[in-house]
Amino acid sequence: DAIAYGLEAPYAVEFHDRLPSTNDQARERAATGVSDRLVVAGEQTGGRGRLDRTWDSPPGGVYASLLLAPGRPTAHAPVFTLAAAVAVTRACRAAGVDAVIKWPNDVLLAGSERKLAGVLTEMEGESDRVAWLIVGIGANVDVAGATLPEGATSVRAAGGDTDRRRFCQRVVETFHGLDPDAVLSAWREHAVTLGRVVRVETPGGTVEGEAVDIEFPGALVVRTDDGERVVHAGDCEHLRPA
Ligand code: BTN
Repeated sequence: DAIAYGLEAPYAVEFHDRLPSTNDQARERAATGVSDRLVVAGEQTGGRGRLDRTWDSPPGGVYASLLLAPGRPTAHAPVFTLAAAVAVTRACRAAGVDAVIKWPNDVLLAGSERKLAGVLTEMEGESDRVAWLIVGIGANVDVAGATLPEGATSVRAAGGDTDRRRFCQRVVETFHGLDPDAVLSAWREHAVTLGRVVRVETPGGTVEGEAVDIEFPGALVVRTDDGERVVHAGDCEHLRPA
């Protein structure tokens, strides 16, 4: 059900003008037994991205981490990442910006490879259940083009509504309302990766072929010359339409 997969309401929101990283702050809270919390910062000094990258976090962006209640199966964690990507995509669209998803969780401006937002999910498991699960969302909302990193764009640069509070509210509401089945179908609906030839750098090597589907809990199905491969993690590059 939706509640079990979203953030349990009511939840507390903590806002900071500046933090090293909202994910790290959420993790500190988790260590003291807190859950069901949203940590938001106006800017980050040590923002982290996927694959050990940094995440530029100037003022004007939305930096938010959802600390979810423990106990869910660790194997389901990728679903939360997809749910966050769907929620951010819808918030961008509600702000008047045509956003799409690149597998697994990059939110791009439609018709470009320029990134509007990303999601970093982190967790710790105890046997097969999560002890803590943090879904960190970074979105370039009210960020001027000049301060964006290369390859990025923002809601502001794309001419959308730059109200960060409204943006954040929409993200959380959508995230909260999605159940696992709805997540996958919504993700498919917003994805640009499916139907393209992709190259994915996975921990086990490069996989190239047509991205044909996504399957629970968030794996990409790629049709290669040697048959279908199910890819669980990696960096995906769109090469061309299939
Ligand atoms: C990506 O690489 O695309 C994911 C970027 C995730 C950035 C967000 S900003 C809020 C949260 N705190 C962090 O340090 N990272 C995530």
